[in-house]
Amino acid sequence: MLSKYLNGIIAKASENLKTIVLPEGEEERVLKAAHIIADANAAKLIILGKEDQIHDYFNKNGWSLRGIEVVEPEKSPKLAEYTELLYNLRKEKGMTLEQAAQTAVNYTYFGTLMVKAGDADGMVSGANHSTADTVRPALQIIKSAKKDRCVSSFLIMISNDTPYLFSDCGVVINPTEKELSDIALTAAETAIQFGIEPKVAMLSFSTRGSAKSENVDKVRNATALAQEALKADIYKDSGIEIDGEMQADAALDAVVAKKKAPDSHVAGKAKVLIFPNLEAGNIGYKLLQRLGGCEAYGPMLQGLNAPINDLSRGAFAEDIAGVIAITCLQATHK
Ligand SMILES: CC(C)(COP(=O)(O)OP(=O)(O)OC[C@H]1O[C@@H](n2cnc3c(N)ncnc32)[C@H](O)[C@@H]1OP(=O)(O)O)[C@@H](O)C(=O)NCCC(=O)NCCS
Repeated sequence: MLSKYLNGIIAKASENLKTIVLPEGEEERVLKAAHIIADANAAKLIILGKEDQIHDYFNKNGWSLRGIEVVEPEKSPKLAEYTELLYNLRKEKGMTLEQAAQTAVNYTYFGTLMVKAGDADGMVSGANHSTADTVRPALQIIKSAKKDRCVSSFLIMISNDTPYLFSDCGVVINPTEKELSDIALTAAETAIQFGIEPKVAMLSFSTRGSAKSENVDKVRNATALAQEALKADIYKDSGIEIDGEMQADAALDAVVAKKKAPDSHVAGKAKVLIFPNLEAGNIGYKLLQRLGGCEAYGPMLQGLNAPINDLSRGAFAEDIAGVIAITCLQATHK
């Protein structure tokens, strides 16, 4: 069953239909998710896969294919155009035309090229592929929306119907201070897109210097960089507040916040949690999902020129439907 929050996102997506490509048409969970989204008329979908098999699967279940197009990359009249597009984008990196032809027919690359060519607004993949396999084509082809800012990922975590945004739990393994600052700023912007208050806590095992370590210094310096960036005109009236370093209890619990960081506008009220590295972020979100009863949507990419989103390989059909709807919303705010 979808949460109240996700149903709200699906309803929003249906107000402005976007086209999302799903390259994993061989996967039943993806087909079920496509049915959920098409049935709610929340997006137009392009499924990559074998046309007869996908039609049979929908017919067998008595589902309509209205709003869904099935494309077989090998037979697509667009393959030559996408091969050329890929070649032109990657030839300076040493890709030959022959390599481009072999690569463009790979379903994840084909879907990514569809987005680059403007034939789809976004892509959702990763039910059967690793994060790196989904993310690499996006980084190579779609690229960062801001030249000097790294791409990262976010999750929407729902706890008792309250959404929180976690970042980065999926892409940048060991961020530098600058990358950590980038992650905080992009996550704050993503939070605004999703109606989450942009109160951003830079997490650590220390609050306001309670522990001494190079790791703590890194988070503190990243916080200072992000706060400096917030002085730019584009952030005037954005409502974004970034503070740290702080522990998770100080970030989330008003009583602890009062003791550990009484002067902070973020502590005790944080809705966006920035983890110091991928180990902390990835382990943290999975613990909350498995032991803490939180729903987790993502990791989804942020900071790209167009939304490409990764799925956890353990995702259920409902989770995939949620990520498709979230991708539609990202495409709307692009
Ligand atoms: C995302 C990831 C795959 C990229 O690593 P990679 O394949 O080694 O990529 P490369 O370093 O070869 O970079 C490929 C391109 O992406 C760019 N890139 C890499 N990371 C980037 C980032 N965070 N933001 C923007 N661009 C990035 C590179 O500049 C390069 O561009 P170019 O080829 O046009 O010059 C890697 O960071 C990774 O494996 N992250 C962890 C993923 C994971 O396992 N997560 C846990 C499960 S959720």
